[in-house]
Amino acid sequence: MCGIVGYVGPVEDGTALEVVMEGLTRLEYRGYDSAGVALVAGDRVETRKRAGKLENLRRELDEHPLPVSRTGIGHTRWATHGGPTDTNAHPHRGGTDGKLALIHNGIIENFHALKSELIADNVAFASETDTEVVAHLLAAAYTTTPDLTEAMRAVVARLDGAFTLLAVHADQPGVVVGARRNSPLVVGLGDGENYLGSDVAAFIGHTRAALELAQDQIVTITPDTVTVVDFDGTPAQGKAYEVTWDAAAAEKGGYATFMEKEINDQPHAVRDTLFGRTDTDGRLTLDELRIPEEKLREIDRITIVACGTAAYAGMVAKYAIERWTRIPVEVSLAHEFRYCDPIVDEQTLVVSISQSGETMDTLMAVKHARELGALTISICNTHGSTIPRESDAVLYTHAGPEIAVASTKAFLAQITASYILGLYLAQLRGGTFADDVRAVLEELAEIPDKIQTVLDRMGRVKEIAGFMADSRAVLFLGRHVGFPVALEGALKLKELAYIHAEGFAAGELKHGPIALIEPGQPVFVVVPSPSSEHGLHGKIVSNIQEIRARGARTIVIAEDGDHDVVPFSDEVIRVPATAPLLAPLLTVVPLQVFALWLSTAKGLDVDQPRNLAKSVTVE
Ligand code: M6R
Repeated sequence: MCGIVGYVGPVEDGTALEVVMEGLTRLEYRGYDSAGVALVAGDRVETRKRAGKLENLRRELDEHPLPVSRTGIGHTRWATHGGPTDTNAHPHRGGTDGKLALIHNGIIENFHALKSELIADNVAFASETDTEVVAHLLAAAYTTTPDLTEAMRAVVARLDGAFTLLAVHADQPGVVVGARRNSPLVVGLGDGENYLGSDVAAFIGHTRAALELAQDQIVTITPDTVTVVDFDGTPAQGKAYEVTWDAAAAEKGGYATFMEKEINDQPHAVRDTLFGRTDTDGRLTLDELRIPEEKLREIDRITIVACGTAAYAGMVAKYAIERWTRIPVEVSLAHEFRYCDPIVDEQTLVVSISQSGETMDTLMAVKHARELGALTISICNTHGSTIPRESDAVLYTHAGPEIAVASTKAFLAQITASYILGLYLAQLRGGTFADDVRAVLEELAEIPDKIQTVLDRMGRVKEIAGFMADSRAVLFLGRHVGFPVALEGALKLKELAYIHAEGFAAGELKHGPIALIEPGQPVFVVVPSPSSEHGLHGKIVSNIQEIRARGARTIVIAEDGDHDVVPFSDEVIRVPATAPLLAPLLTVVPLQVFALWLSTAKGLDVDQPRNLAKSVTVE
């Protein structure tokens, strides 16, 4: 959601505006509906802000240029309190002397009470935002404690909720102060210049040296220093790390959209996520977990918490982990978890899955699980993000930066990492499956090439999407691990093409949804491998016949060599044969490609669909 950039450079240098605007451009992927900047200029702080995309802000800067400055902050806002207007856009000024400006990501939950207090003191408000309350509190604190870091410390003590705050003050022209609680903030370390950002994309064009901050910390940057203190004033040190993503990885790599690039990145995403997880004997080694093996052996229940696509990855993982470990696995939507009185204790492993590592619903579920005594492992794609830091352990996916709002390569990497975790638990605990771990790993190792084969065959899917652009509704059916794939196919279509789409477990059809079938209704069917157990394949072939008999237009995703589906399919999209539990890593790809090209055919914004944000940092 909101993107934040801060920059301080050398005295003789005046590039703050360029650096901040470049950072905001790289953070566009987070989703936003207004943007603004503030620069320290002489004895004032100058701001420019505009509703809408960055081009509106650029136009404003052309019409009303800002003076050269070495210190600046910038913000892309995703509206929560107050609509997406020029006035509500950040930065917000505090006080009346024009010397202080502040930007914010998150929600100040007690802002009503604080605002009433300020109004009683005759403070006038320009906007409807919770952020402006903090700006005024900070200005007031600065008058009694004329040091921005100390003033910030006094203010954060009064705030409830989640926040990243950055502030500048004209009386301290070479300083930017940041604070974070439950919202993201990382430091970029330069040579004679330093950066702050919601994530490393904000400064990746300038430095790869980064510093991770812990919860409840304040950071003060000058051109030559980075100072961190806890909210109680205790000196602290951030954790230094090297950013392995390069600027090019955050670009589109020759594709028209980030989503197309990311779909084509998927063989790499899976390969990189598998890489380096086994020893020379082919046994899984997850040293990075740093959880005593004994503790993992004691686990008697697993709960997966996640949202959206990540939750569907969790649903796929449930089938595999239960099969391999015989430990019961429950999948809980993270925003429901806290409120359903979950059965969680010291022997429960709570696995969170999140691409961004910043999804507030998932973060809060993890915190709740820890309060209940659970062991928590985060499966996450973003180093330095909050959820891994709040968990007992982390297993990183290595999908690289996912910029498009619609998740694709992260989904495949999340399934892969969950499978690695499941196989590792099976290996640790012994039992009948442990000996087969190596065989599954060998099959997993073949998946990247098989994904490439699927990608190479996508021409027909693009054509189908082209002539389905006027569809009013599309249905998706699957069974077993194909069921979450059907849900994911429907989600992709909803968010990208704004078409009503539903995913169903095919067995559920006859219990109601079959009433939706009428002549011409498009239905995608994710067919399990003919080698699946319990006659699953035959059952779905019957389901296809049932809907075909009622006039459905059937688009069937089936394994190479599966001829049984042909008589009942209007279109057959082929994927290479693989083990039934690994099939989602292949069958979801045509559904992603279909949504991409249908959205394109409708002339929609593929990378930033309406109303959506990349990382959902509010509850
Ligand atoms: O960053 P996360 O994986 O925690 O995000 C979870 C969901 O918000 C995300 O998967 C969302 O559903 C995507 N837009 C789906 O494409």
